[in-house]
Amino acid sequence: MNIEDNFRNITLNDIHLVNCIISSIREKRNLSGHMRILEVGCGSGTFLLYMIDMLSKTFPKITFDFHAFDLQESELIFNDEELKEPHLSRLHIVLKRKYKNGNWERKIKIIKPSDDWHEQLEFFDLIVSNQVLEHVMDKPTFFNKLSKNLKLSGNSFHIFPALDVFWEWHIHVPFAHWFKSEKMLRKYITLYRYFTSPVKFFKNHKLMMNSINHDAKYIFDKTHYCSTKQFIKYCNDLNLSVNLKYTYPYYFLKACQWLKIDINKFNFYSCNRFLHYLTFFITKHISSITVHISK
Ligand SMILES: C[S@@+](CC[C@H](N)C(=O)[O-])C[C@H]1O[C@@H](n2cnc3c(N)ncnc32)[C@H](O)[C@@H]1O
Repeated sequence: MNIEDNFRNITLNDIHLVNCIISSIREKRNLSGHMRILEVGCGSGTFLLYMIDMLSKTFPKITFDFHAFDLQESELIFNDEELKEPHLSRLHIVLKRKYKNGNWERKIKIIKPSDDWHEQLEFFDLIVSNQVLEHVMDKPTFFNKLSKNLKLSGNSFHIFPALDVFWEWHIHVPFAHWFKSEKMLRKYITLYRYFTSPVKFFKNHKLMMNSINHDAKYIFDKTHYCSTKQFIKYCNDLNLSVNLKYTYPYYFLKACQWLKIDINKFNFYSCNRFLHYLTFFITKHISSITVHISK
């Protein structure tokens, strides 16, 4: 068995987020020196490994210092059948094997929601998260910690679906994240499944009802959607600059993928404001937006 079998596949979200980071580093024209990067809510660590690999290859003259964490209920504590230890141990093993220099146990860790992200203020040049913000319950605290830990003139990128999105991508039911009551949501999903998969609904009724209950509970317990406007307000309240112009390159990458065009042929990351204004009011309803915060 390959030691990396427990990690998920690399997605377009990962590729896009790394492209955003590369573009922001190039923009600063500071292509040598030292950079501290934090990934918040790293899950299995798949994106972290991909980011380390891509950034180290793209900027060989920069010394990167990578940090990451997730919470106690995350994939990091899932049992690893082979190691008989949490998945975090496997992540440390992979990192130590690939990159000998790091003090990985100290830098990649599990923390409590009340813990600080780092003991030193204004420590990170870059803070990123990938599909995390729609799961964060206490967003003011999240942005407060981000503001405390990001260096002056540092950058931060977050890719996630906002409340504006029509399709709920975790359970694949439209508008499921707009319900205020779990009971009503359960009824709505039942109706939706009845009309979209009637044969399955009657053939495997018990299984279907279990899955509907599970989905409704997941949306209520594990997701905490918030509108784009609200995100901007959270950042502005902390004097953080925020823009959304990195959103459209993600959809251009998606289009290339569908049309089977080589994504490396184009550079979408010049982030033209005109293209942004032309597309954002549609793209925010489709899937993830990309929030770029700077200090
Ligand atoms: C859909 S997973 C994404 C995991 C990973 N970023 C990836 O791309 O595979 C969402 C993650 O957000 C984490 N999360 C939820 N609330 C958080 C918070 N307040 N601070 C940090 N991480 C949080 C969860 O523990 C979970 O691992």
